[in-house]
Amino acid sequence: MCGIVAVTGYRKALSLLLDGLEKLEYRGYDSAGIAIVNSENKELVCNKSEGKLINLINKVGQKEILGTVGIGHTRWATHGKPEVKNAHPHLDSSGKVAVVQNGIIENFLELRNKLEEEGIIFKSDTDTEVIPHLINKELNNLKKLNLEDSGSTLLIAVRNVLSDLEGAYALAVLWSDAPDSLVIARRQAPLIIGLGEGEFICASDTPAIVDFTQTILPMEDEEIALLTPLGIELYDSNNERQYRNPISLKCSEQVVDKKNFRHYMHKEIYEQPELTQKWIKNYLIKNSESGLIKVNYSFDTNFLENIERIQILACGTSRHASMVGSYLLEQFAGIPTDVFYASEFRYSPPPILPNTLTIGVTQSGETADTLAALSMEISRREDLKDELCKPNLIAITNRPDSSIGRQISNVIDISAGIEIGVAATKTFFGQLLSFYGLAITFAQIKRSKTDDEINQLISNLENLPPLLKELVDQHNEISEKLAHDFSDIKDVIFLGRGINYPIALEGALKLKEISYIHAAGYPAGEMKHGPIALLEKKVPVISIATPGKVFEKVISNAQEAKARDSYLIGIAPKCDGTEIFDYLMPLPLSDEWLSPLLAVIPLQLLSYHIAAHRGLDVDQPRNLAKSVTVE
Ligand code: G6P
Repeated sequence: MCGIVAVTGYRKALSLLLDGLEKLEYRGYDSAGIAIVNSENKELVCNKSEGKLINLINKVGQKEILGTVGIGHTRWATHGKPEVKNAHPHLDSSGKVAVVQNGIIENFLELRNKLEEEGIIFKSDTDTEVIPHLINKELNNLKKLNLEDSGSTLLIAVRNVLSDLEGAYALAVLWSDAPDSLVIARRQAPLIIGLGEGEFICASDTPAIVDFTQTILPMEDEEIALLTPLGIELYDSNNERQYRNPISLKCSEQVVDKKNFRHYMHKEIYEQPELTQKWIKNYLIKNSESGLIKVNYSFDTNFLENIERIQILACGTSRHASMVGSYLLEQFAGIPTDVFYASEFRYSPPPILPNTLTIGVTQSGETADTLAALSMEISRREDLKDELCKPNLIAITNRPDSSIGRQISNVIDISAGIEIGVAATKTFFGQLLSFYGLAITFAQIKRSKTDDEINQLISNLENLPPLLKELVDQHNEISEKLAHDFSDIKDVIFLGRGINYPIALEGALKLKEISYIHAAGYPAGEMKHGPIALLEKKVPVISIATPGKVFEKVISNAQEAKARDSYLIGIAPKCDGTEIFDYLMPLPLSDEWLSPLLAVIPLQLLSYHIAAHRGLDVDQPRNLAKSVTVE
């Protein structure tokens, strides 16, 4: 969360910074700010605005700020309200040092108290502001040494300060006495350097870099760098100079285009049939000799043969996809599987068991909770030095070039293309498909299902794209009309059971995220144990009822809601039993295994149209960010 951009080179920094920030706004939009070293008088020019980047653009866009070195920030508030005084960059008391930061400085209070005792006056409530003050103090100490090169002086000062900071961060620092230089550093938060000719851009994520250069150098944990138009000096935590080859960006995946849609989220929902088609082509590959279809991974899958249990770590929507995955892995592939909130797993992991596969699921590849939980799991298993307990890892992500891609080498790339809408839709769908792939692979390894059963699932998946296309068109129309009925609704209950219980959770999460209507998802059988007390006329119940193991049970649970006067909406095929619903959002009759892939479409579209109908900011809902890089 929070987006950082920093540039040094020969072009005007202002427009480069604003362009970069625009691409990073998905990381937070509580405030935005920039600082540039004025190339004429070598003074820092700092501008900040509350709210979205557009406010900053309106403030500075027409200004002539001369200068080729600058830093910028788009904020998702952690410490301190989303007000101008808390917007980055933060300056030291002399106004010569400016810092932007993404992360949390956990010991900031202790540092702040000390600085205040020394007479420093703080202007913000943020954790970040301690950093420029500390750097200024270090610079004053270093001045006594009369070091010749001001860029190197800044590098030393920042390095000294970093050793006092606890927590995770990515930061960029400007000092007006080193007018061509930038110092950047990272610890457990992403930072990537884009290499131009005689210029460098540094950013939290690649979309901010792609229009500038295709050549990047992702920073490793605990690295610090000095950038000037002449080059990069990169050091590790032992102060050893690092030399690495840069890598190329796959730019096609970064193209951001809304096409004719009003919102990115709407476009992204519409992209799901094509994504499925692409997934089938890339992942379901027929062996030309045996005629068998296998799932095609980019890594060696031999290690999966010994796997006896699976644990999945994820957050938010990715966790819901993982829950469907867990159902498939247990019920279809016969492997005991648990899903954990990554944020809980880190501090209360289960005892270590042998032959366990750990799967990290994150569309962004940057979620701090997920990365930290995975690191913890890897190191506690490595410490054991027991071959049977060694970490077996897979990452499922839309960003193989992200931190999780660097942490784990076995990556399942969902290849959904860049997702701009903060509320995940197509990446959720891509994660689901990845789990279908894994369930097929494990079922083939473990012989948990007959060849016929496995082939049936494969063929159902292969037939999915046209069905999905029809479903999206049909439910777009239905949801648009139904959204009008939700004008005064304040609470919605979502029910599902078995494989569709996680879809009920996801339906509720989507509605909450973008329409700000309170919604909760429950396993339908649990409703009578509490949530039923909420039911009345103004609380619609949306129930997913697809023929299969629990269909009759779900219908009975829906009856219980109807008896309490709730307006009942069914996500269900038109068949015996579903006439109970006051309103039916029809699904095609399908195999139960496939039903989550169908049921989620009407739920996504309904949330979208309710939020759009209310005139809300669908793509950038309040308080959220797409990439949550703080714990
Ligand atoms: C944030 C987003 C959610 C997302 C979650 C996990 O909270 O707002 O939409 O599901 O992070 O993100 P990840 O990138 O790990 O899938």
